[in-house]
Amino acid sequence: MNPRNPQVSTMATQLSQKKTACVIGGSGFVASLLVKLLLEKGYAVNTTVRDPDNQKKTSHLQALKDLGDLKIFRADLTNEESFNAPITGCDLVFHVATPVNFASQDPENDMIKPAIQGVQNVLKACAKVKTVRRVILTSSAATVTINKLQGTGLVMDEKNWSDTEFLSSEKPPTWGYPLSKTLAEKAAWKFSEENNIDLISVVPTLMAGPSLTSDVPSSVNLATSLITGDEFLINGLKGMQILSGSISITHVEDVCRAHIFLAEKESSSGRYLCSCVNTSVPELAKFLKNRYPQYEIPTEFGDFPSKAKLIISSEKLISEGFSFKYGIEEIYDQTVEYLKAKGLLN
Ligand SMILES: NC(=O)c1ccc[n+]([C@@H]2O[C@H](COP(=O)([O-])OP(=O)(O)OC[C@H]3O[C@@H](n4cnc5c(N)ncnc54)[C@H](OP(=O)(O)O)[C@@H]3O)[C@@H](O)[C@H]2O)c1
Repeated sequence: MNPRNPQVSTMATQLSQKKTACVIGGSGFVASLLVKLLLEKGYAVNTTVRDPDNQKKTSHLQALKDLGDLKIFRADLTNEESFNAPITGCDLVFHVATPVNFASQDPENDMIKPAIQGVQNVLKACAKVKTVRRVILTSSAATVTINKLQGTGLVMDEKNWSDTEFLSSEKPPTWGYPLSKTLAEKAAWKFSEENNIDLISVVPTLMAGPSLTSDVPSSVNLATSLITGDEFLINGLKGMQILSGSISITHVEDVCRAHIFLAEKESSSGRYLCSCVNTSVPELAKFLKNRYPQYEIPTEFGDFPSKAKLIISSEKLISEGFSFKYGIEEIYDQTVEYLKAKGLLN
């Protein structure tokens, strides 16, 4: 404390305590909510987008400037230099962005290469900038659950990794996304170990809940396909159960809360699965039919597996002290209200 002017030194302490977080890919479903929660917690936030002039993709971020100290930078995962400015001076870096293109004819170049290059470029900038205390990577349960095991009730935890050999050789539908996420997370662990970076990965399942973005996120459309009756996406949901072994869903806000919880918790380390509900397409349809009898929800699925093959355990996250705020009822009630407000459901 400054004995001659205690007020000045108190202010200096407060200023120095205001933490700065960088969120890579701020325009997306998850990242824009993460930016909002960080600002509400008093963090100064730098975020990156590919095109700050794209009104449709960034107007919801511009609106968050009313909540606090938010700066928007231009950066692309494939451009190493673009991350230096937004990461400079930051305590925490949340790497959320990833290329997502399920319809891609060329997953290698559209998703796999840029995802791996992206984590390496972001981590290189973090290693250069000496202020970064911890990096939090948004991974996916698709890095954990894809395997050729049979049965039901298999419990998957952070030790499990998806079978990359199976994904790259047999190329099941949508193989490019899980392979890109798995190889990108593995590359992140390798770089962090070699460069002494404190890395945490959050490994979430399919997310639903209201979105700040102007378009409805594809994961929300997928999670609500049994309600909206979108046949293509219902088949996508079935495909997800066959490939990933379950339909596991989490509220987007809980996933963002888990990111901040783990970033702030000194003792956290390694990977953390973040999954609230483990179910199957037929079980989910039954639940939705009971809760929303006003919608035409299919409940006959023939010989499609009625039970999930596996259960995704969030035990490590919970034992660290985290608790989920929203269960299946709240996840769907809020998502249905959100789709109604968007004029997409009656
Ligand atoms: N949503 C889910 O259900 C779910 C489940 C598990 C894990 N995750 C993970 O959560 C993270 C966020 O997903 P999301 O659902 O929020 O996806 P999203 O809304 O599609 O956001 C993806 C973000 O990545 C950015 N991006 C893509 N390619 C880029 C590039 N080359 N350079 C810079 N930025 C790039 C996009 O920026 P533009 O705006 O410029 O396109 C966008 O901001 C991802 O890592 C995803 O794998 C999501």
